[in-house]
Amino acid sequence: MRHLLNPLDFSVQETEQLLNLASDIEKNPSKYAHKCDGKRLATLFYEPSTRTRLSFEAAMMNLGGTVLGFSSADSSSASKGESVADTIRVISCYANICAMRHPKEGAPKVATLYSGIPVINAGDGGHQHPTQTLTDLYTIQSQKGRLDNITIGLCGDLKFGRTVHSLIESLVRYKNVRFVLISPPELRVPSYIRDEVLKGFEYEEVTNLDDVLPKLDILYMTRVQKERFFNEEEYIRMKDCYVLNKDKLTLAKEDMLILHPLPRVNEISVDVDSDPRAVYFKQVQNGVYVRMALILTLLGLA
Ligand code: CP
Repeated sequence: MRHLLNPLDFSVQETEQLLNLASDIEKNPSKYAHKCDGKRLATLFYEPSTRTRLSFEAAMMNLGGTVLGFSSADSSSASKGESVADTIRVISCYANICAMRHPKEGAPKVATLYSGIPVINAGDGGHQHPTQTLTDLYTIQSQKGRLDNITIGLCGDLKFGRTVHSLIESLVRYKNVRFVLISPPELRVPSYIRDEVLKGFEYEEVTNLDDVLPKLDILYMTRVQKERFFNEEEYIRMKDCYVLNKDKLTLAKEDMLILHPLPRVNEISVDVDSDPRAVYFKQVQNGVYVRMALILTLLGLA
């Protein structure tokens, strides 16, 4: 039985196979409409979500399967003190596969120790968000035609941004990827990313977005995450540190892609949405194809 906790759980070759499957699903959805007939997905979300939970559910329904689950810890027996270990034992009696989001880093890994079904990490604290990374890779690949030879700027909350951590870990496996890490000093990437993941790779850390915009092939914007701050004053001081708007985009390449895992707050002005370089809503749609491909792969139905 296979789980997905970290994007590195799939080799580069397996990732390519999964992205190719997602591409075929996008082109020929009817071919896959009954692949999961009789199968059930459980979504165990201890933290809020719009895209990840609903795209997993849409993915399973598109495959002919059914879904069940909870969308907050409050509406589950976690509120009565039930452990992740006991919950996953129970869910294994009801479903064939599950996606779990949890505020504690490592909770989905704990679940794998007690689970009778494949567990997908749908985001654990500020740690990892591997299915967002697969979605990001699919979007870059389909829009740029490659995952190598790119300069990518990651901007915003690089400290707590689990999508950023997963994407960097994944992209270092491709040739000639240069990273520009754009954040206030307080929200730099964690030291393990700098000292271990990025060791030996080309990267720079800057605080000014305008200075580096002209050289980027991809700009990956992120939200400053209120829920990860212990101190509201600190959040208020940093929440609008970067705002991408139409004027600022005049500094960027004509073919620079703008990605964002969403939700956004103020960091991308709505006047950017109509720019052809803005692909964050395409990313949302791509998340369904990628999660369909992932469900098929983990259930051994690909
Ligand atoms: N990108 C993402 O994880 O969005 P949600 O929090 O809405 O699932």
